[in-house]
Amino acid sequence: MADISDILSNRRTIRKYTSEPVDDKLLNDILEMGCRTSTTGNMQVYSIVITKDEEKKRELAPLHFNQKMVTEAPVVLTFCADFNRFNKWCRLRKAEPGYDNFLSFMTSAIDALLLAQTVCIAAEAKGLGICYLGTTTYTADKIIEILKLPKGVVPVTTVTLGWPAEIPEQVDRLPLEAVIHYEVYNDYSDDSIASFYKEKEDRPDSQQFVKENSKQSLAQVFTDVRYKKADNVHFSKILLKVLKDQGFMEF
Ligand SMILES: Cc1cc2nc3c(=O)[nH]c(=O)nc-3n(C[C@H](O)[C@H](O)[C@H](O)COP(=O)(O)O)c2cc1C
Repeated sequence: MADISDILSNRRTIRKYTSEPVDDKLLNDILEMGCRTSTTGNMQVYSIVITKDEEKKRELAPLHFNQKMVTEAPVVLTFCADFNRFNKWCRLRKAEPGYDNFLSFMTSAIDALLLAQTVCIAAEAKGLGICYLGTTTYTADKIIEILKLPKGVVPVTTVTLGWPAEIPEQVDRLPLEAVIHYEVYNDYSDDSIASFYKEKEDRPDSQQFVKENSKQSLAQVFTDVRYKKADNVHFSKILLKVLKDQGFMEF
C-alpha cells in the first residue's frame, strides 16, 4: 500500500464510480479507523448515517441538487453533529446536559467534520474514491426528514464513496505561502493577492469558466454564479432554523 505522504499528495476528488459494491467489512474497517479521530473530551458527539439502499439514495438525490454521485456511488455517508446520544446517556445517569446551545453545535460539528475527513483518508488509502457534498448544509431541514434525525442531530456534510471509474487531473492549489502566516497574521496587499491568484486565474480551465459564464473575472464566477449572496442568505436562514428546531439555540 502507498505510504501516507503519497496518499495525501496524490489525492483528488472522485465523482465517477464503478458499479462494484464496497464490501461491508471494508466499510466497517474504514469507519472504525475514522472513529480513532480526536474528539472533544472523548465524547464522540457525532453519528454517521450510511445510505446504500437505491430508493433512499433517490430520495436524497434532489436534496443534493441531483448531483449524480448520490445515486451512482455505492455508498453515501451523511456525517451528523450529534448530541442526542450523549444527552440521553447524561439523563439516564442523573446528569443534566447543558448542550442545547450554539457552542455545543460547533463542538459536535467540528467532531463530525474531523471524523469525516479521517474516514475519507482511510477510504482513499484503501483505493476508494470520495466526494464531499456541500449541499448538506443547504438542505439540512429536508435531510433531517428523510434520514429521520431526532432533536440534537444536525447533518453537517455528506461523502459519496466508491471504487473510482476515473482518474481526473489534480486541480490547482494556491501556493503554500498564500495560506501560512508566521507567528501573527500578515494581511495581504493588493499585489500579493494578484500574485497568489495569478496561476489560478491564468489556467485555461479558469479562463474557460469566465468565458462560458460571460463574466469579467474568475472571482465573478464565484460571487455571481457559484456561491451567490442571495443563495447564501437564503440557506443561512434555513440552517439557523434547523439549529433552533434541533435544539441548539437555547441561550
Ligand atoms: C465541504 C466540501 C463540500 C464540497 N461539496 C462538493 C459538492 O457539492 N459537489 C462536488 O462535486 N464537489 C464538492 N466538493 C469537492 C471540492 O469541489 C473539491 O475538493 C475541490 O474542488 C478540490 O478538488 P480536489 O479535492 O480534487 O483536490 C466539496 C468539498 C468540500 C471540502
